[in-house]
Amino acid sequence: DAGAAASGGRTGKPHAVVVVYPMQGHIVPETHLALRLAARGFAVTVVTTEAVHDQTARALGVDPAGHDAFAGARAAGMDVRCELVSDGLPLGFDRSLHHDEFHGSLLHALPGHVEELLGRVVVDPAATCLVADTFFSWPATLARKLGVPYVSFWTEPALIFNLYYHVHLLTEHGHFGCNEPRKDTITYIPGVPAIEPHELTSYLQETNATSVVHRIIFKAFEQARGADYVLCNTVEELEPSTIAALRAEKPFYAVGPILPAGFARSAVATSMWAESDCSRWLDAQPAGSVLYISFGSYAHVTRQELREIARGVLASGARFLWVMRPGIVSSDDPDPLPEGFAAASAGRGLVVPWCCQVEVLSHAAVGGFLTHCGWNSVLESVWAGVPMLCFPLLTDQITNRRLVVREWRVGVTIGDRGAVCADEVKARIERVMSGKEGEELREAVKNVRTTLEAAAAHGGSSQRSFDEFVDELTRRCG
Ligand code: UDX
Repeated sequence: DAGAAASGGRTGKPHAVVVVYPMQGHIVPETHLALRLAARGFAVTVVTTEAVHDQTARALGVDPAGHDAFAGARAAGMDVRCELVSDGLPLGFDRSLHHDEFHGSLLHALPGHVEELLGRVVVDPAATCLVADTFFSWPATLARKLGVPYVSFWTEPALIFNLYYHVHLLTEHGHFGCNEPRKDTITYIPGVPAIEPHELTSYLQETNATSVVHRIIFKAFEQARGADYVLCNTVEELEPSTIAALRAEKPFYAVGPILPAGFARSAVATSMWAESDCSRWLDAQPAGSVLYISFGSYAHVTRQELREIARGVLASGARFLWVMRPGIVSSDDPDPLPEGFAAASAGRGLVVPWCCQVEVLSHAAVGGFLTHCGWNSVLESVWAGVPMLCFPLLTDQITNRRLVVREWRVGVTIGDRGAVCADEVKARIERVMSGKEGEELREAVKNVRTTLEAAAAHGGSSQRSFDEFVDELTRRCG
């Protein structure tokens, strides 16, 4: 009929609008969540920013005007499309350099643009549910206006959702939000085993909690209280007590690990930088001999830190593949590695600006991952069975390290920011890449991987959780 034709055959299906937080570490899991919903019979509209669309197209070497990220997914029978909004900043603005302006714009300009888009474009058929990153400051309010359920998607561990959700307890007990926070162990967050103040996220360790990011977190968790459902990219068996405590608060579903399908180059391109092909170089390296190094997509390292790490890597004698993201130190420091590094490591090292990380991690040559502990990187490393050397930089990464090192024992720490030194880096690399401790870590990571695989398999906890969520949402949207 005319209605079905106008809506491109979308009528009669639940219609999920998935609003992606415009940063690499959110784009990856949120794109794959959108595909999972489409695979379960939802019509899905993915809302992303013009800046992300532009950068992703350029990374692929295609004209942004003609780029359709989900064309391949539609060809495979999924009903998924993309709509673009402005994040309020000019396209050429350097978002990776000016974090405060970028986040400020996401806080102030983006909500209006999304609301306008939903009223103007995503009306035929109307959205029947709003799925949005927990870090947004507006979805519960907007979903109420639209009269649809709000599904909050959390890309980090449940532990961190729980800490932010109970930030008022941290404040009441004097561990946060004052000039001289308490330094003793925190024991009162529901479901959270004792946690040390230095294991909290970087934002919860800052004494001046007035930054744009703090405002975003506080507003976002007010909104999270109004969420109808929370989906989390974690696994029940890895965080049982935290998840049980959150379930007592609201419908909370652990549906992870949400990883690129098949753990190879994804059907949908999500990289914001062009991926160098490392496979030929890796193919030529002995099994388990390569240390993969990457600090993710967002945080910066200092020149000093990078130099200490580089000296440690050289001294260790290990083979390495190092992702040196453009602007990792700052955009006016294009070559921050120590002088002579390339010559000294010739024949045993490869430095690239960006790569397909899941492909690299799953290559047999890779035996360790020196990582900033971004949550996607942690899940990907475990999924690939690769032990970690942890050098967290910012935000959740500090708390993620606690899970990797203290709880699952699948990695070691290489020291804290500012204090990292070449000798320690060398010693830790040797411990992980060779010797008894490396073997133990590899054994431990295999066990955690088995847990993830079992959760993701048919009948596993994450699969069941996702089924329950889909059934519930379909019933409510239907
Ligand atoms: C940050 C947070 O630290 C993270 O925990 C949060 O969930 C999202 O924001 P980021 O610095 O982007 O994340 O790190 P991470 O979560 O590890 O995500 C990076 C993604 O980029 C991964 O999926 C990784 O596979 C991909 N990547 C990284 C590449 O494809 N190529 C690279 O060269 C480096």
